Amino acid sequence: ALITLRQLLDHAAEHQYGVPAFNVNNLEQMRAVMEAANAVDAPVIIQASAGARKYAGAAFLRHLILAAIEEFPHIPVCMHQDHGVSPAVCQRSIQMGFSSVMMDGSLGEDGKTPTDYDYNVRVTKTVTDFAHACGVSVEGEIGCLGSLETGMAGEEDGVGAEGVLDHSQLLTDPEEAAQFVRDTHVDALAIAIGTSHGAYKFSRPPTGDILAIGRVKEIHARIPNTHLVMHGSSSVPQDWLKIINEYGGDLGETYGVPVSEIQEAIKHGVRKVNIDTDLRLASTGAVRRFLAKNPKEFDPRKFLAESTKAMMAICKERYEQFNCAGQASKI
Ligand code: G3H
Ligand code: 13P
Ligand code: NA
Ligand code: ZN
Repeated sequence: ALITLRQLLDHAAEHQYGVPAFNVNNLEQMRAVMEAANAVDAPVIIQASAGARKYAGAAFLRHLILAAIEEFPHIPVCMHQDHGVSPAVCQRSIQMGFSSVMMDGSLGEDGKTPTDYDYNVRVTKTVTDFAHACGVSVEGEIGCLGSLETGMAGEEDGVGAEGVLDHSQLLTDPEEAAQFVRDTHVDALAIAIGTSHGAYKFSRPPTGDILAIGRVKEIHARIPNTHLVMHGSSSVPQDWLKIINEYGGDLGETYGVPVSEIQEAIKHGVRKVNIDTDLRLASTGAVRRFLAKNPKEFDPRKFLAESTKAMMAICKERYEQFNCAGQASKI
C-alpha cells in the first residue's frame, strides 16, 4: 500500500532502522527493488528524479510505481519525488499521486547553483504549506552536497559546475539545521556531510576528514526528532567496479560511502539513505559481463534479467544492512 515518508520514517525512528531510497527509471529497477523487499519483508521508498521522468515519461513512471503497489499490496511503498527544483515541480508530483516530495532549495532552479538561506526557506515553506494540506510529506535540504576533498559542489563526474565551495557550505551547520526545521516544518531533512552524487565521491577510502559522520551526530543531538536523510550514499562496490573495468568499461579507481559508516549514521538519526549509483554499477557490470560472455545472444530479456538479478542482490543487502528487513509486516 502507499505510505507517506512521515509515516514510514516515524516507524523507522521508533524501531531504530534506516530505509534505503532507491532511484527508479525503468521496469528492471522497479522489479529489483520490489522483489528484494518482498524477499526480506522490507518497506520501500521508490524515488523518481526529473531525469527519470524525462527518460521513462511521467505517466509510464507513475504507472510503474502503481503497478508495484498493485503486485505487492502487503509492502508499504513511499512514492517519493527526488530533488524537486521548484514548488511547481512538487505541486505537479502531488497532483500525480506522489506521497512525498523533496523540495531541494539548497540549489537554484538550474539544479546546480547554491542558494542562500532565505531563498531555501521561502521555497521549502511554500511546499510544506501545500503538501501538508494534501497529506503529502516533504523532504528539504540544508547545506550543499559536495566533496570535502576538492571543494567541488555537486555532480556526477566530479566536475563541480559552480566552482569551489568552502567547508562551511559543504557541511551542514547544526544550528542552521535546527532553525531551518523550525522555519519550514519539513518531515525529513537532507544534510551535507561530504558525500556527493555519482560514482566519484572519494579518491581514496574515506576517513573522517572527508566523510563527516561526526557531523551527523552533532546535528542529531541538536534536532533529535527530525528524520535525517543522506544523499549520495552509494557504496560503489569494488567488485562491480572490477567487473565493469574487466569487460570493456573504464571507470578508473574510485570509492563510495562504506556501509559501516551508513550503519553508524543510522544510529544517529539517519532514516532515509539515497542510493542510485550502486544499482547503475551493478546493472552495467552484469550487462557488460553477460554480453561479453554470450556474443551470440540478442534477446534483451536475457541481459536485462542479469541486470535485475544484480540490482536485486544490492537492494537485499542494503535492506538487511540498514535493519529494514523484517519491518514491512510490522507497519
Ligand atoms: O540525484 C541524483 C540521482 O542519482 C538521480 O540522478 O538525475 O540522473 O536521474 P538523475
Ligand atoms: P548516489 O549517486 O550515491 O547513488 O546518490 C543518489 C542520490 O542521492 C539521489 O538523490
Ligand atoms: Na530525495
Ligand atoms: Zn540526491
